[in-house]
Amino acid sequence: MSLYNLSKPFLFMFSPEMAHSIAIKALKFGLLPSSGSLKSAFLSQNLWGLHFPNPVGLAAGFDKNAEVYSPMLGQGFGFVETGTVTPLPQSGNDKPRIFRLSQDQAVINRLGFNNQGLDYYVHQLEKRNIAEGIIGANIGANKLSENPINDYVIGLKRVLGLADYFTINISSPNTPGLRALQGKEALDQLLSKLKIIRDGAKLDKMPPLILKIAPDLNSQECEDIAEIILKHQMDGLIVSNTTLSRDGLTSPLKDESGGLSGAPLFEMSTKVLSNMYSLTKGKITLIGVGGVSNGAQAYAKIRAGASLVQLYSALVYHGPGLVRKINAEIEELLKKDGLSNITEAIGLDHK
Ligand SMILES: Cc1cc2nc3c(=O)[nH]c(=O)nc-3n(C[C@H](O)[C@H](O)[C@H](O)COP(=O)(O)O)c2cc1C
Repeated sequence: MSLYNLSKPFLFMFSPEMAHSIAIKALKFGLLPSSGSLKSAFLSQNLWGLHFPNPVGLAAGFDKNAEVYSPMLGQGFGFVETGTVTPLPQSGNDKPRIFRLSQDQAVINRLGFNNQGLDYYVHQLEKRNIAEGIIGANIGANKLSENPINDYVIGLKRVLGLADYFTINISSPNTPGLRALQGKEALDQLLSKLKIIRDGAKLDKMPPLILKIAPDLNSQECEDIAEIILKHQMDGLIVSNTTLSRDGLTSPLKDESGGLSGAPLFEMSTKVLSNMYSLTKGKITLIGVGGVSNGAQAYAKIRAGASLVQLYSALVYHGPGLVRKINAEIEELLKKDGLSNITEAIGLDHK
């Protein structure tokens, strides 16, 4: 039995938010043994000039304040996305605001970008040892901002140079009006501004700019997003954030408001991912997120067009040992398909 399975009944005695703070504290104090970085010739690849030892990353929202990226890399993740950070600290929505839907292997959250703000976040990233692994910085807008686009400008300017890639999160359902930035004109305006900042930065290496979208998009909205990201030559797209849909849930807490993640999000987010791969003709690097809890699901996202995958909710139910297991399973699936590296599987379902 894994250490996590032993401690799970203890963690589940607490509210999900309290269990998360206990986990963050344990990681900060080095109480979780590092399993060392996970390397394999089958699973490693170079993207945007970065070397990814394996394709399984930690999704945004677990390490909002960039406090535990280093111990999370030690759990075997190929990369860790910190944030979402907003320019000013904010406390988020009233508690309770995270719900475990155990019967559905899902989570609903309406945290509302609770975080300590850019000053604290930047300070945390400045302590970073680059050799430990790849870190992403996910930026957002404050709830009360009068000019949300400007919040992204402020955020990107402050974090450029401190992380390996930058995610523009316009897809949280818990900040009123945020998802409207996915609309064609607003997105065009936002990306123009951010590209100017990124392109003008005096850095040795041009860091990738990545957009994170919702799964609740109709085909016209997907087409519009594809057109705009191709126009601005974005480096990547993360598909997807949490969903507002509640289809097929059985848990008593299913009607809590907020974004749903975990198992019920898998199919929906994989469909949007596959659609975005077709719409962008494989020209944009995709990161597949949503409901990944085993190697077959991670592999399905890769075959649908993802170069990398991320997860969060499955950690709640299975603990960090899952990362090694998923990677081992992906390697087996590659071998079964007669492939020698992950790059050969990307988008295979479309070929
Ligand atoms: C408690 C919680 C907090 C989250 N916070 C953020 C966030 O701050 N920024 C973000 O881009 N995504 C956030 N997410 C979404 C995840 O990054 C991910 O896109 C989503 O949960 C789907 O993946 P999963 O099914 O593996 O959890 C959060 C998810 C959860 C469960």
